[in-house]
Parts: sequence; C-alpha cells; structure tokens
Amino acid sequence: MRIPHHLAIIMDGNGRWAEKRHLPRIIGHRKGVETVQQIVATCRKQGVKFLTLFAFSSENWGRPHDEVDALMRLLGTFLEKELSRLLEQGIRLRVIGETGRLPGQVLRILQEVMSQTEANDKMTLCLALSYGSRNEMVRAFRKIGDQIACGKVLPEQISEKMISETLDTNGIPDPDLLIRTSGETRISNFLLWQLAYTELYFSEKLWPEFTSSELLEAFADFSQRQRRFGLTGAQMEGEEITHQEGRH
Ligand code: IPE
Ligand code: IPE
Ligand code: MG
Repeated sequence: MRIPHHLAIIMDGNGRWAEKRHLPRIIGHRKGVETVQQIVATCRKQGVKFLTLFAFSSENWGRPHDEVDALMRLLGTFLEKELSRLLEQGIRLRVIGETGRLPGQVLRILQEVMSQTEANDKMTLCLALSYGSRNEMVRAFRKIGDQIACGKVLPEQISEKMISETLDTNGIPDPDLLIRTSGETRISNFLLWQLAYTELYFSEKLWPEFTSSELLEAFADFSQRQRRFGLTGAQMEGEEITHQEGRH
C-alpha cells in the first residue's frame, strides 16, 4: 500500500456527533481529541512523515463564545497531555495559522511543546490553529510586498517557490492526500495554495467515529489512484518504470 508522505485532514463532525446524542457540542470535541490521538499514532506507525490537522479555523472564532472558550481550554489540556506521547513517538510539533490570536496560555504551551519536540524526526504533526488559507496568503503577500517596497525583491523575482516559502507551511511539502470527514465535500478555506495537486478523499464518518481502519481504507483508495500532474497516463507509467528501474 502506498502511504501518503504528507496527509492533511479536515476533522469535521464533532458537533453533529454530540447533537445526535443530545449532548453538548463540547463533548463531541472531547471525543474528537481521542480520535486525534489514535490517528496520530496510526500515521506514525504507517510511516506518514507529515500530518496536518485542521483543528480551528479563522472562521471558527465566530462561533458562540462558550464553544470557542471550551475549545481553547481543550486545546491547552490536549497539548499538555500530548507532550510525553510526542516525545515517546519521536514526533515534532509545528503550527500554522494566525497564532497571535490564540489565548496567551495556549500559546505558551504550544511554544513549549514545539521547542521540546524540535529535534524529533519520525513525523511532523502540524496543527492548523486560527488558520485560514486566505488569511495566510494575505500575510504572505504583505511580507513579499514589504520586501519589494524596501527594494530587496523585484516583482519579476516572485516565483512559486518564493510564495511557498513565504506561507506558514514553509519547509513542509504539499499534501499528497486530503481527508475530510462528516460527509461535507468542501475545502473550507484550508491550504488553498498547497492543495493544488492533492488527492481528495471524503468520508461519511463523523470525526469522533473515524477509526484507524477507516484511515487505512483511505490509504488503500489513495494507492489505487494514478496522479498525473497534467501529464498523460502513459507518461506517468513510463515514469514509474524508470523509477523502479532506477532502484534496481
Ligand atoms: C470540527 O467539528 C471541529 C471544529 C471545527 C473545531 P465541528 O464543530 O465543525 O462539527 P460539526 O460540523 O458542527 O458537526
Ligand atoms: C472546518 O470545519 C474547520 C475545521 C475542521 C477546524 P467547519 O465545520 O468550520 O467548516 P464549514 O463551516 O462546515 O465549512
Ligand atoms: Mg463542521
């Protein structure tokens, strides 16, 4: 089975999972954290190198205060509890998004966990927090704009590489596979630039019900696909043969 080098997940459906059971939405988010722990461990075991999880969007700030507060508290406790597990599994933590908007306490724990896991190299767990792709692009364009204004960069020097390197995901390869749970088939302002050639997979399962076996099903589906990047099927088969020959 082909394992994506970089897997990105839109973890959706916590609220509906709880509402179906007449429980407060936050119970769904708590249950969702358990899924995160299982999926992180499975990805690590399967050899995924980068796992990006959409945990809180720029737009999610507009939810009722109680839910936002509860989510921020949950995030803080998750990070505190997760540190030892990340160290045990050799996982490095990174974050993308407008993190300056996060509560100070969450930011401090985040920085602590990132610095303690910095040398880990088995897998990078990248949390998208207060993340919106358009917001990320605006911040990147401003940085490039500043460089142009002070004469360090000429407009004709702007390249795809420069843009990629100015985004929050600098140093992280583009995702190979994107999974969204809960049956919604939209991108919701996630990694718009980076998903240019990513394979998309939509699962009907709500995030708290998404198991490691569903993840493996997604990998099996991904394995069957031929990624053509604009070329022809025959060209890609040729490529594969050359790759294989190269290995012998
Ligand atoms: C995803 O679950 C988690 C976050 C956005 C924080 P939702 O909270 O969006 O759950 P639904 O979509 O309302 O069921
Ligand atoms: C996307 O889910 C954001 C996260 C999973 C964190 P939403 O539930 O916020 O997205 P929409 O509103 O259904 O598009
Ligand atoms: Mg949702």
